[in-house]
Amino acid sequence: MYPDKKITIAIDGYSSCGKSTLAKALAKRLGYIFIDSGAMYRGITLYCMRHQLILDGKPLIEKIEKILPQIKLTFIYNSSSEKHDLYLNDEDVEELIRMPDVASNVSPIATIKSVREKLVAEQQKMGEYGGIVMDGRDIGSIVFPNAELKLFVTASPEIRAERRLKELTQKGIDTTFKIVLANLLERDLIDSTRKESPLIQTKDALFIDTSNLTQAAQLQLSLKYANQVLESYSDKTNC
Ligand code: DC
Repeated sequence: MYPDKKITIAIDGYSSCGKSTLAKALAKRLGYIFIDSGAMYRGITLYCMRHQLILDGKPLIEKIEKILPQIKLTFIYNSSSEKHDLYLNDEDVEELIRMPDVASNVSPIATIKSVREKLVAEQQKMGEYGGIVMDGRDIGSIVFPNAELKLFVTASPEIRAERRLKELTQKGIDTTFKIVLANLLERDLIDSTRKESPLIQTKDALFIDTSNLTQAAQLQLSLKYANQVLESYSDKTNC
């Protein structure tokens, strides 16, 4: 409908609120690239776990800073999942970074300033030319503060834990609602109270509560917002 203009869409929100699913569907409908920025924090976490750089849940910050240049993260398109898989130093780690042990170590890693600086610079490069939907915690506030469309997505903790539990059970991972909920709440707290780029809803972000919305309804709403932005550009062109 608006063939020339490619906007940047920033989607932020708490863990397991459905933002990646929404971001992926939105990108597909618009013909944009979808990047799950959380995968990059998970990739660094996996590397740190493999190199004993996390002791009793605490990252060894100075050592991690030294080895950061050795970590190469790349996204390669997977046509069967229709999304980009994360490669860590040329190894496909898309499955491994979704495992519960990575999930329980990632939030402390995401508080490290040098880790954030490295990843934000890489994310900004990916979005240089627009036509991207990126989801995370600091996308509208730090990575793309000038994004033409910002969405802040949430859902109640119980609904998020239920959704996460279902995903894990489908993957054959044995866990309980209580454990999943506790992990989510702990990550919410770390993500929203950390010193470096905490999760916030920026003033210009549109709020979407997915608790009682189907995935189709979330997509419809987001497409409506995206089309409103795109229409405003086509109006400017016609003036
Ligand atoms: O979205 P996720 O659950 O895959 O994110 C994993 C962790 O990385 C989570 O603790 C939040 C953090 N994160 C972040 O700090 N900034 C981002 N842009 C994306 C994720």
